[in-house]
Amino acid sequence: MIIMNQINKGYMLGDEKVPVLRDIDFNVKKGEYTAILGPSGSGKTTLMNMIGCMDLPDSGTYFLDGEAIHELPESKMNVIRNRKIGFIFQNYQLISTYNILQNITMPLLVRGMSFEEAAEKAMPTIKLLGLDHRLKHKPNELSGGQKQRVSIARALVGEPAILLADEPTGALDSASGKEVLKLFFQLHEMGNTIVMITHDMNVASSAQRIVHIIDGQLSE
Ligand SMILES: Nc1ncnc2c1ncn2[C@@H]1O[C@H](COP(=O)(O)OP(=O)(O)O)[C@@H](O)[C@H]1O
Ligand SMILES: [Mg+2]
Repeated sequence: MIIMNQINKGYMLGDEKVPVLRDIDFNVKKGEYTAILGPSGSGKTTLMNMIGCMDLPDSGTYFLDGEAIHELPESKMNVIRNRKIGFIFQNYQLISTYNILQNITMPLLVRGMSFEEAAEKAMPTIKLLGLDHRLKHKPNELSGGQKQRVSIARALVGEPAILLADEPTGALDSASGKEVLKLFFQLHEMGNTIVMITHDMNVASSAQRIVHIIDGQLSE
């Protein structure tokens, strides 16, 4: 699903380029549940942006579900991102003025689907996540755990190739965090491919496989 070879990425600091990701080789098979574990500043978010087609590498090759991402013009990255990636963020990133159903159906509306069609397509996912009684609520009427379930539903609804989660339990109390990890495990068992980024060993250990990132370098 993911084949990354010799990925390098740096940021300009004055006239100098500071390397952040160094010679990254990273592969993920369909159906795998992988955690990327590393301390703050190690390059996790930079790597997530790369995997999630939000940013391009300076060098190296990246194939996502057969698509050569490193050769894509930036204008096509939006489309690939919408089709292939389901994002889950620490702070949920829900739209506060939209109700839960509008938030969940967002990725389908972006594809040009009508609201009625999108709502129908989303219903099995909504039921799976136990959100069918909350559809008219606004995000600020929900608990943190419920908000994260909404964001997981939004990530799933477009049937992406990969679920990509950045510290998905980072803002939750430990009981809600455990519930989210249980849900990830269930989604993994249902065949979803998951990449989860975390600085927390306990969170990472719920994945099937752990890859370490230290100073922008990966090791299994
Ligand atoms: N847009 C940017 N411009 C300059 N430096 C950046 C930028 N984004 C991240 N960095 C630097 O790259 C390194 C890795 O950052 P990041 O990928 O956010 O790490 P993590 O998510 O593991 O904390 C840090 O030293 C950070 O300061
Ligand atoms: Mg980060």
